[in-house]
Amino acid sequence: MKKVTVPSLVSKKRHGKKITMVTAYDYPSALHVNRAGIDILLVGDSCAMVELGYETTQPMTLDQMVHHCEAVKRGAPSGPLLVGDMPLGTYEYDDTDVALRNAYRLVKEGGMDAVKLEGGSNLRAQTVRKVTEGGVAVMGHVGLTPQAISVIGGFRAQGRTAVRARQLLDEALRLQEAGAFCIVLECIPANVAQAITDTLEIPTIGIGAGGHTSGQVLVYHDMLGMTSHPHHKQFVPKFCKRYGQLGHAIVKGLEDFKVDVEEGIFPGTEYAPYKMSDEERVAFDALLAKDEEERQRIHDEAAAKLDDSDEYEKLSLYGSSKD
Ligand code: KIV
Repeated sequence: MKKVTVPSLVSKKRHGKKITMVTAYDYPSALHVNRAGIDILLVGDSCAMVELGYETTQPMTLDQMVHHCEAVKRGAPSGPLLVGDMPLGTYEYDDTDVALRNAYRLVKEGGMDAVKLEGGSNLRAQTVRKVTEGGVAVMGHVGLTPQAISVIGGFRAQGRTAVRARQLLDEALRLQEAGAFCIVLECIPANVAQAITDTLEIPTIGIGAGGHTSGQVLVYHDMLGMTSHPHHKQFVPKFCKRYGQLGHAIVKGLEDFKVDVEEGIFPGTEYAPYKMSDEERVAFDALLAKDEEERQRIHDEAAAKLDDSDEYEKLSLYGSSKD
């Protein structure tokens, strides 16, 4: 697949072609996203939740992000445009040099083509300008901005009043004006997303924002039903269509393996492919016969020690029967 570029995405919007974006966090998921011909691969800080088991995206660090970006780059060296999320605490300061320095890490060490940051305030627009002038393409993100969860008060829809919807449009315009090449619209009403998309020159990518955006993004683990553990169910958002139930398939595979091993079905002769010639086998048996007694003695000693330690385990778990 030809490398996706920032201009090719803008051109897609102009020609009314939908843009696809999916997250990935490691080598195998990047291979899959690349093979599927997805336009944009986002190394999202959702990694904190779906890969690292945190309840929000806030704990993600820049070092962790660089580590995941490096693996993704190896899995998708060409093909999708690679975008790395800037974690909370790496770009919000009045000193926009901090953001530029951190964006360079995602590009130089992580191998990303672009970075994404959240929010549409005046300060954020200055940061977008600084980073793009520094030569790094920036994707914006407005609506539900998960890094600001403590301000927003929870994972909930945004822009549901006329005033707030108008503010979101202004934020998107501000980011475009500052040089963002694309904007993620998360969890906002479809009519608001449509108004923003129709107003902007640059593409919008929706997630829980209806069908009138320039493209759609979903989180890899959510869309593929990766985390079938009940603990994760609460985190799968209701706007997310499931395109697979991989979590169930993975658990089933692991359970089948356990049964096969415990019942002696695996590996069987089918999965024991390495053979000796008859001549080498006879020679090996002769070598074994030479010191059979000595080996039996070593085996018996080891077995006696293990019996002792079994006895010790029983005592420490259940107490001595003499007590
Ligand atoms: O971190 C992430 O995965 C994201 C997407 C939901 C857009 O920001």
